[in-house]
Amino acid sequence: MKPAIAPGVKVRLCSAAVITLPRVPFALALALAGAASLPAGQPRPNNVAQRYQQLCANCHGDKLQGAQAGSLLDDVWTAGADDASIERSIRQGFPEKGMPAWGSAIPDKEIRAMVIYIREQRALHAAGQLKFAKPADFVTARSQLHEYQVSTWVGGMKEPYSLAFLKPDLAIATEKRGHAFLIEKGKLAARPLLGLPAVDTGGQAGLYDVVPHPDHARNGWVYFAFSDPQRNAKGEAVSLTRVVRGKIKDNTLVEQETIYQARTEHYTKAGGVHFGGRLAFDRAGFLYLTIGERGGKSVAQDLGLPIGKVHRLHDDGRVPADNPFAKDPKALASIWSYGHRNSQGLAFEPGTGRLYSTEHGPRGGDELNLVERGRNYGWPVITYGMDYSGDAITQITSQEGMEQPLTYWVPSLAVCGITFYEGDLFPRWKGQLFLATLAAQELRRIELRDGKVVAQEVVFKELGRIRHVVPGPDGALYALLPERIARIAPAATVAAP
Ligand code: HEC
Repeated sequence: MKPAIAPGVKVRLCSAAVITLPRVPFALALALAGAASLPAGQPRPNNVAQRYQQLCANCHGDKLQGAQAGSLLDDVWTAGADDASIERSIRQGFPEKGMPAWGSAIPDKEIRAMVIYIREQRALHAAGQLKFAKPADFVTARSQLHEYQVSTWVGGMKEPYSLAFLKPDLAIATEKRGHAFLIEKGKLAARPLLGLPAVDTGGQAGLYDVVPHPDHARNGWVYFAFSDPQRNAKGEAVSLTRVVRGKIKDNTLVEQETIYQARTEHYTKAGGVHFGGRLAFDRAGFLYLTIGERGGKSVAQDLGLPIGKVHRLHDDGRVPADNPFAKDPKALASIWSYGHRNSQGLAFEPGTGRLYSTEHGPRGGDELNLVERGRNYGWPVITYGMDYSGDAITQITSQEGMEQPLTYWVPSLAVCGITFYEGDLFPRWKGQLFLATLAAQELRRIELRDGKVVAQEVVFKELGRIRHVVPGPDGALYALLPERIARIAPAATVAAP
């Protein structure tokens, strides 16, 4: 079947031009008016890009740019711009205008995948038109609310993952490869911190978060989350996210204690993906820890497993008696919330005490969540994403008993660390959320009101993957870039109010 357009129909060629197509034979028009079927004799396309080329490219152009039918890149949607409307357009088609109804030929979840694909292609297209100036060191850049300058605070690092200020002039930074360094007066220690536990660094495994105890000034405790290498009963190399705390003396971690460690039978093959590994303390002093689902998808729904969860602990590792599943014999008592894929951002909002997390979606479907006690965040039953291969996961994006994200991103940005800005250097940023992203390489500002996202801005991009953004005691923001930590502060020439 050679797709064509119904007779005498005006179609957009590109967004501006309108042409009238010659009449096509009646039989073909009839065929088009009915439900679409897959072209006979052709193998069933098994991934979204192939499926697009086979079923849609003839009319919408091989790059979605538009051909006989309209462009899918221009963000002009005559039949509705939201996901549900675009899904409906594909499912029901426009037989009267020459677009077949695909509902009976393509399963719903693959129609969902097609929408994600259209959004991805649209974003790629838009990115080509949108130019972000790469902020140069010490050159003033403008964002919506503030002018700022980026400068290298500490260079010579390798994939820094987290940063914590222990005192105004003393910080500690972790690197994925298993090293931590003290930074005194902005100077990186010559040697890594000694005494850290062994760290699995294969695949996405590594040394993750470092956070001081809320009462660090008095008790000296510093917490580390990392991929813990172990051997299981069969002698296989396995690993999972573990938390230790210790005190720092003479560039060495001493008085080490394990705060969280899962049972070895719950560890999965060493290396691999999705460890989570973010930590956050609430105002009452409870410690929250994210553990990703290690690629196991449906395990995130299993309350008997530690993976795909947010856990809540006392500062010394004891499990609080008032945790939501503490009295459920089939559940792990440390679980606070579940159905998470891989949360690599976790932050409490000062003032409200609300807990926010970012969660890596698959291809499409990165999420910002408001994490609440005992709730199910739905992975992999509901998601706004599809598999990396372009294979569909599901068309279900919401379900009773499962939480909706506050916002989601299609295509994925690869959302990582988050932080609330509370400093004085950027008064109009006060109380706002900052988001570090990997694939998109963007630093985003997110404005929340009453737990809802009301505005977003890309502050900058083009400086490489950003793993985390951390507020400093000096009121500056510190962004963890691939080989350095950058300081974001008002331009020296811009008088701080
Ligand atoms: C035979 C030609 C033809 C084929 C094949 C076709 N379309 Fe269309 N499509 C059209 C026409 C004609 C329209 C309505 C007018 C327009 O937007 O150009 C349309 C409209 C749409 C719309 C709504 C656009 C809007 O502005 O709201 C979407 C979405 C869409 N098509 C997606 C697809 C997808 C996905 C496929 C492949 C599964 C596909 N189409 C295959 C001809 C086609």
